[in-house]
Parts: sequence; structure tokens; C-alpha cells
Amino acid sequence: MSEPVTFSIAGDVAVVMIDSPPVNAVNQGVRAGLKQVFTELRGKPGIKAIVLGCAGKTFVAGADIKEFDTGIAAPGYHEVLRLIEDSLVPVVAAVQGTALGAGTEIALACHYRVAHEAARFGLPELSLGIIPGAGGTQRLPRLVPLEVALDMALTGKPLPAGKAAEAGLADRVVGGEVMPAALAYARELVASGAGPRRTREQPVKGKEGAAELFAAQRAQVAKTMRNRQSPIALITALQAAVEQPFDEGLKVEGRLSSQLEQATESKALRHLFYAEREVRKIPGLAANIAPRPIARVGIVGAGTMGGGIAMCCANVGIPVTLVDATQQNLDRGMATIRKNYERSVSRGSLKPEQLEERIKLISPTLDYSALANADLIIEAVFENLALKKEIFAKLDAVAKPGAILGTNTSTLDIDEIAAVTRRAKDVIGLHFFSPANVMQLLEIVQAGKTAPDVVVTALDIAKRIKKTGVVAKVCYGFIGNRMMDPYGREAERCVLEGATPAQVDGALEQWGMAMGILAVYDMAGVDVGYLTRAERKHLLPDDPTFYRPTAVLYEHGWLGQKSGRGYYRYDGADRKRTEDPEVIALLQEEAKRLDVPQRKPGAQEIQERCLYAMINEGALLLEEGVALRASDIDVVYTAGYGFPRYRGGPMFYADTVGLKVIYDKIMEFQKTLDPRYWQPAPLLKKLALAGSSFAQWQAEQSR
Ligand SMILES: NC(=O)c1ccc[n+]([C@@H]2O[C@H](COP(=O)([O-])OP(=O)(O)OC[C@H]3O[C@@H](n4cnc5c(N)ncnc54)[C@H](O)[C@@H]3O)[C@@H](O)[C@H]2O)c1
Repeated sequence: MSEPVTFSIAGDVAVVMIDSPPVNAVNQGVRAGLKQVFTELRGKPGIKAIVLGCAGKTFVAGADIKEFDTGIAAPGYHEVLRLIEDSLVPVVAAVQGTALGAGTEIALACHYRVAHEAARFGLPELSLGIIPGAGGTQRLPRLVPLEVALDMALTGKPLPAGKAAEAGLADRVVGGEVMPAALAYARELVASGAGPRRTREQPVKGKEGAAELFAAQRAQVAKTMRNRQSPIALITALQAAVEQPFDEGLKVEGRLSSQLEQATESKALRHLFYAEREVRKIPGLAANIAPRPIARVGIVGAGTMGGGIAMCCANVGIPVTLVDATQQNLDRGMATIRKNYERSVSRGSLKPEQLEERIKLISPTLDYSALANADLIIEAVFENLALKKEIFAKLDAVAKPGAILGTNTSTLDIDEIAAVTRRAKDVIGLHFFSPANVMQLLEIVQAGKTAPDVVVTALDIAKRIKKTGVVAKVCYGFIGNRMMDPYGREAERCVLEGATPAQVDGALEQWGMAMGILAVYDMAGVDVGYLTRAERKHLLPDDPTFYRPTAVLYEHGWLGQKSGRGYYRYDGADRKRTEDPEVIALLQEEAKRLDVPQRKPGAQEIQERCLYAMINEGALLLEEGVALRASDIDVVYTAGYGFPRYRGGPMFYADTVGLKVIYDKIMEFQKTLDPRYWQPAPLLKKLALAGSSFAQWQAEQSR
């Protein structure tokens, strides 16, 4: 293997190259290489400047995340970066692609920075629940104003080269190749006699007003990054940069970093980092199964979902044939797509010409035979089994051999849908979430006869359209909606027991859910859940309180946001949700009629009931093999259901609480609540009593 760090001499300038494919991430080898090279160059006669660059498309784009678990092997970051910063001759970083995390920190330790115009500098550490730990919090505010430093590190959004130059992070921005430009810049420095310009020796920029800024940011993150430690730690570290000498500040950063690394928040976020990669590995599928080529996608149904899915494809250049039953709905669908793109244009995230290009990729038609050249057809018509069967029979007749037939059904039996075709092996569930062009998750539902290469193709297409595909097997609601069922059941039952909708949602949101479930129902339409349950009435428990609040709202025609009222009222100019005393009174009356004991559950009970019911269902899904891994469930929930990432997903969260604690609580609820809903899943019981965890169980399964 070639050395990860090498140098060459170009006249009086040494050119140091990091070559650690694929993204030049720093690991022990890179640190050791940098140490060796910078030691060798120190005081080397004839060398008047050093350029530090990277092979390949990008500057150092992060650090090897595995080192979290193994610990940082010597030499450490501080030693290496100090060596670079202490160079006796100017060191110029040549930055192309993205400098991320440790990459930005290396660039900060150099004396000057030349950036390609498309380069970006980012500190995404908070997304892993940590803070920059290689001096980033101390050096960055010495180059850019404190406000910019805070913003970069709190949002994790990389700063483009132009903005980096304005802020003081890049000394020169160039259009062509960055290495020759950095070399030229180094020669200019030598010619002008400019020496090293050590970042740590610079004063912090924007000290005045710092106290107010920190106070405002603390208040802000308490609201927008609720329950999280790392943003607070980040602010503390930056505050240390303002208030203490550099070396003392470094100590503060170091202490906070090691605390964060051990904390559940970071463990949860790292768990998801791995879990999101793991979803692509399907046990039992040979690694060499090739995906089928997908050059054109057909979509049936130009409604909410069909339109969004068409956008996902057009966004990455895949041409789409969009079919609907009526011209009117087709026109409305295309108009909605245009409106969505126009919104992106007005926000500045899309150029007007891109809008036209994308629209041009979508061909609307009423003619099913236009689907004959599609390699993948996704059905997104109304949620009605008879209709879907009729459509699949039609698709079977027009689709070319080998075309994949996907259905976006949320709940229906895909085996039954597949059975009407002569090609059940080509049929698969592709469950997108609303709005499909925004939501990250794609549940890929492998039906009984779905061929392995169809699953592989679905995972591949998910990646192409920038979604996280998670494979599930057929059952009612698949992974996501099936686990929502007991979660919502408890939320509604808590309302009947005397908690107001705002108390229920408040408890869930305070815990970390992006939106309380009752507010979600209002957003999606109270009728959606009601009607789905009405269809399956014969399968539901014989319990008059089961999902009764939603039924009451439905009977009153209060369907949620679209009717201006549901669980809440939405009548201000901003249509913000407010408690509706009439709804509260009505539901209380209903509870009385149904003789529901008034427990008036508090926040903790609401959280435990909703979440433990969900987790218990997750354990059932694992036993049934509907979900392949506990970590897949975590990905589904964090990518598709607003479950807080910093809690790692429901199954990871369960492990952090302790399965025995959850099991005991379920047994307690069995006594105090309706026992038919509080039967511990056998797997949960087994693991709880054995002192095990879902993570341990998963590790054993894959052995
Ligand atoms: N809306 C959601 O939040 C959501 C989320 C996930 C999955 N889904 C599922 O996606 C599917 C579509 O839902 P939606 O919300 O987009 O519905 P929608 O009512 O917005 O759109 C359905 C479209 O299908 C068209 N259609 C009906 N019959 C047709 C036929 N025979 N041929 C061609 N087109 C026909 C209709 O004209 C309409 O434009 C459903 O199965 C639903 O369960 C919806």
C-alpha cells in the first residue's frame, strides 16, 4: 500500500500530499504520515514554504469514525496540528471539494488557505453528537467572526469558498486547479517575505457583544435542539476561546469532547451512522446480484404521492411517464409539481432553467400503453385493493418483460396485488412518505415472490433518488405504520383518560418527537386513519374506546388542518395550532359515556405508554421477520417518522432505557391499564429477563 502522506520538492516549496481514498479521511496512518513529513521538513535547508493538499476530488472530508470506538492511536490530533502550525516557514492549505470536520481543522492549523471556487468548509461534528475536538472551536473564531463560527458549527452547513473568503477563512479563491494556484500563492508569500501566520496567535474576532451572542444562542438551541448536550458544549467551547488563552481553551474543548463521546447522544447518532449503511446489506442475498438497469420510470396516479415521486426521479435526471385516469387530475398533478419547483426557485435552491429541464423530464399522459418502455412502474392511486388489482392487471398487459412493478400502498397486501399479474417476482412495495420529494425514507417491501434482483434494484434506485431504502416484509402497515398503531392508540386513549391533546402532544414533543401524534393526524387528515380503520373493522379489537377520539372528530367533520379544526383549531393568520375547548369538552363527554376511568396521565406516563407500546410492536416485527434488524427499525423511525435522531431510534432507545425496565413497566400497565394491549412481545420478555439488549440480539443473529 502506498504511503498516505508524501512530499515532493518544487524549487523552494515543499508539496505535501495526503492520499487516503476515498475521501482522504484522517486515521492513524494519515496522522503518523503528517507527523513524519512535517518533522522531516522542519528546518530542511532550501525550503521556504509548504503547500498541503490532497489527492483525488476532495480535501480531507472527515475523520475515521471507527476511532471513536477504538480510541485515538498516537500521534494525536493536537500533536500533529501543532507541528504543522509551528512550521518555521509558511504552510498553505490547498482546498478542493469539501474540507469537513478534521479536514477543516487541519486547514485551520495551516497558516494560509487557498480554496477552489467550488470548495466548502464544514464542521458537521454535532450531527454525531460531538464537537470539533482537534482545536476547531479555538482556531475557527480566530479566523472568522464569532457569529460565523457559531453558525458553521451549530448548523453543520458547509461554508462555500466565496463566503469563506469574505469571512476570513480562505485567503484566495481560484477557478482552476487548486494545487498550482496554492503553489503560486506560496511563492508570492516567499517573495513578499510573509512568514508563518499562526492561527492560535490571532485574536478572537468579534469579542465585543460575545456575551449577548452566547446567551441568545443558548436560548435558541434549548428550543431548536431540545434535549441535546452537544450544542451547549459547543457554545461553552467557543466561549472558552473568547475568555481564555488558546491552550486553556484547548483543554476545555478536550474535556467536553471526551465527555460527549461517552454520552448516549453521540452513541445514538453514531449508531444511526452505521445503521444507515447497514440497511443495504440484505441477509441471504448474494453480494453479486446486479440491479436491473432503470432508464425510465412510469408512475400511475398524479396525486400527492405520484407527483412527489415523479419529482424525485426528475431531480436526478430520470425521465418519467406520468399516467392518471382523468385529464383534470393529470393537469392538477403537473401544476402542483410546477408550483413545488417554483417554490424552490423563489427560495434560490433551484435555477429557473433547471425547473424547465425537470418539468421536461416528466411526460404526462392518459395512455397506459405509454408505460411500455418504462423499466420501473410505480403505482400511486387511491388506497383501494380492488382498484390496485385492476391497475396491476393492466400494467401486466402493457409493461415490457423484466419491468419492475412497484406499489406505493401504505397498508394493502402486496402478495394479493402481485397475484393478479403473471410476474409476481417483479412486483414490490415502494412505500414513499409524504411529501415524497422531501421525506428521506423509502420502505421497500419484499413480497412473498419478489425476486432478489428486484430488491437489489429497489435499494439501488433509492440511493439514486437520494433516499434511505429499508427493506421490510409484507404485513399490515409494514414497519413504520404498524408500529405507529399502538403508539397512536395510547395517545388517543390518554385523551379519553383526561389529558388534553396539547398535553399529549406536548409530552411527546418535549421528549423529542418532531410533532405530537395528534397534531400529525390533523396534518395528514383525521379521515385518513379513520377510513383505513373502517375498512379493517373486522380485524380490530372489540373495544369502543379504541381510536375513539379520532372517530368523534371524523363524525363532526373536523378533519384537521384542511377543515381548520381537528384535535386543535387552526384559525389565526399563521394557522398555528391552539387548544380547542369545545373538542376537549366533547371528548370528555365521550369518555364519560364510555365510562373511561379518569387517570389524567402526566407527561412521563404519556411518554412511557406511547413509546413502550411502539417498542413492543417493534420486538414483534423482529420475531416475525418483517424487519431484518433492530437497527433497520431505528432508520425507519428517524428517517420517516420524526423520531429524534439523538435518541437513536426506538430500538436503540429501548436499549438505553434497559429492556428489563421496559418489560417491568409493560407488566405494570398490564395490571393498571387495559391488559389486552399490554402483552409483552416474547422477544422483549426473553431479552429483558436475560439482561440482554436488541443490539446484542442483532449481533448474535448476524453471526
Ligand atoms: N398521502 C400520503 O401521505 C401517503 C403516504 C404514503 C403512501 N400513500 C399511498 O399512496 C397512494 C396514493 O395516495 P395519494 O395521497 O397520492 O392519493 P391522491 O388521491 O392524492 O392521488 C391519487 C391519484 O390517482 C389517480 N387515479 C385514480 N385511479 C386511477 C387509475 N385507474 N389510473 C390512473 N390514475 C388513477 C387519481 O386521479 C389521483 O390523481 C395510496 O395508496 C396511499 O395509501 C399516501
